[in-house]
Amino acid sequence: MSSLPRILVTGATGRLGQLLVPRLLARGAGVRALTRHPARANGLRAQGAETAVGDFDDGDSLRRALDGVSHLFLLSPITPTLAGQQIAVIEAAAAAGVERIVKLSGSHWTIEPPGRSLSGDAHREIEAVLRRSGIAHRVLRPNAWMQVMLARVAAELAAGDALHAPPGDPKVAFIDARDIADVAVEALLEQPVAGAASAAPWVLTGGCAVGYKEIARIASRLTGRRIVATPLSAQAQQQRQAANAPSHYIARVHAEFAALIAAGEAEPTTGTVAEVLGRPPRTVEAFLEETVASRSPA
Ligand SMILES: NC(=O)c1ccc[n+]([C@@H]2O[C@H](COP(=O)([O-])OP(=O)(O)OC[C@H]3O[C@@H](n4cnc5c(N)ncnc54)[C@H](OP(=O)(O)O)[C@@H]3O)[C@@H](O)[C@H]2O)c1
Repeated sequence: MSSLPRILVTGATGRLGQLLVPRLLARGAGVRALTRHPARANGLRAQGAETAVGDFDDGDSLRRALDGVSHLFLLSPITPTLAGQQIAVIEAAAAAGVERIVKLSGSHWTIEPPGRSLSGDAHREIEAVLRRSGIAHRVLRPNAWMQVMLARVAAELAAGDALHAPPGDPKVAFIDARDIADVAVEALLEQPVAGAASAAPWVLTGGCAVGYKEIARIASRLTGRRIVATPLSAQAQQQRQAANAPSHYIARVHAEFAALIAAGEAEPTTGTVAEVLGRPPRTVEAFLEETVASRSPA
């Protein structure tokens, strides 16, 4: 690429987008952050990003946001309208002449094989539209994020010595969201590769799979206390998920994830993060050192 891209980042104010925007700015790319709530993007503006006020459900706002943009990072939250919203953005990007799209998709095991995850099937449908669009693109399929799945660990350890574990203590190749953001930067700035390799999704995982017994061992070392992984029954896990879900739809999506994880689907690892970044993925141990150790007694 001769000149640096101008990139519209959707989901810019979310968990991943907030990690991605400063990384792209640091590489000299022009960044326009899409948001429905401009105040949420104050921090990103202060770092040098432009803001576009827009909504996936408002075609005119998408056209304005995509005006003069060469690249698109496509991310939206899991909702019943996930597929329709992202397809609308792809169509608007095609009309605007966008040259390259990087799509943050679902975890590989939610997408392949089809028919076992509502959100995975929606991401699969979007990926198919992207392939048919003819626009150069890269799909990222990250495994379960540490910042989401392990966020509760520090809170549970602040409350006591029990760490609630899913039934069967399945292992998961958790990935640090910062590694996903690092890979997304490379995917956005990469030179297009000719042939089938350019279309292959990047399946992103941590370097090894870890269960909650192992997490409890790490937490014991970090806190100097005896932390015990306490298995939840399948019913108790479902009740917890339903209580924390904002809608029936999300409760169902989370129940599907839990069943697939319990079956070991999130355990396999790939070498993609290391291949793309030239260094190993961040580890669960390092993540817990940051989040748990700071709460341990003096
Ligand atoms: N968590 C995991 O373990 C995991 C694993 C694999 C894949 N994923 C994928 O990651 C994605 C979620 O990423 P995330 O956690 O970073 O999201 P998030 O924190 O929930 O952020 C959602 C973002 O979407 C924007 N948004 C929502 N509705 C919008 C609309 N109608 N128009 C324009 N923007 C809208 C929000 O912007 P404003 O509110 O500022 O408008 C916000 O920036 C999902 O697609 C999920 O499938 C997650």
